[in-house]
Amino acid sequence: MNSSFWRLDGKKALVTGATKGIGAAVVDVLQERGADVFLTARTADDVQAFVQRSRNDGGKLYGAAFDVTDKAQRSALIEQSVASLGGLDILVNNVGTNIRRRMDEYREGELDFLLQTNLVSAFELCRLAYPHLRRSKAAGVVNMSSTAAATHVRTGAVYGMTKAALNQLTRNLAGEWGPDGIRVNALAPWYIRTPLAEQVLRDKSYAQAVIDRTPLGRVGEASEVAAAVAFLCMPGAAYISGQILAIDGGMSIAGF
Ligand SMILES: NC(=O)c1ccc[n+]([C@@H]2O[C@H](COP(=O)([O-])OP(=O)(O)OC[C@H]3O[C@@H](n4cnc5c(N)ncnc54)[C@H](OP(=O)(O)O)[C@@H]3O)[C@@H](O)[C@H]2O)c1
Repeated sequence: MNSSFWRLDGKKALVTGATKGIGAAVVDVLQERGADVFLTARTADDVQAFVQRSRNDGGKLYGAAFDVTDKAQRSALIEQSVASLGGLDILVNNVGTNIRRRMDEYREGELDFLLQTNLVSAFELCRLAYPHLRRSKAAGVVNMSSTAAATHVRTGAVYGMTKAALNQLTRNLAGEWGPDGIRVNALAPWYIRTPLAEQVLRDKSYAQAVIDRTPLGRVGEASEVAAAVAFLCMPGAAYISGQILAIDGGMSIAGF
């Protein structure tokens, strides 16, 4: 087997939501595998700090602050990242968040905020990235979905709705863009130890219920999701497209 199957040397990658949690781990592994990476999040100081502590043994790192829910900032993000990287081969739509509520407790504006953050941002960034990805001839998109796309896991309905739609966006684009040589996949993590998940995992009885429901008996680490992102972008995954890969310690196959 060719060792370049497992490398990303010379690839140009854009990662959103990349200063914390899963996104930060994705940047780290893509860069370590040889890709040049442009990272973004809303907090400029965090982006600058991340770029400055860039590793020396991988690809180059660039970054700037953008809010992917804002139309003008999305356009500027694609423009600046393509200019910095000199093209685009990989788009990782990692941004996502949640407001956990029962259906009757959602407040005005929250549905729209979650739709914009978790779904519309990915849809629009895919559209803006398409002309650049098409030029790559071996491009990959990875969307960050969730276990909540397929199963009720107490996240509130809206989060599950947005992630389910992201899964179908993934499948549709994989079909539509396959002839352009663009592969589109998604990952569906269960609980991963990140600032977002800590908000609920700090409740010890909740965390224990999660662990009891997980065959591997623990929550996941951001690096374990990032490794799968990197794999899906590699030449070794060249025949994989339109898939939703669970990163869940076996949770989704566990019956009683
Ligand atoms: N952690 C889990 O257990 C888990 C499980 C399943 C799926 N996921 C999914 O995995 C993805 C990452 O989750 P995470 O737990 O790593 O999240 P996190 O710890 O909350 O980190 C989110 C990152 O996204 C950035 N961000 C948030 N909103 C943004 C916006 N509008 N524009 C640009 N950047 C934005 C944040 O920085 P700023 O605040 O500075 O913008 C931060 O860098 C999400 O899509 C989430 O739904 C997570």
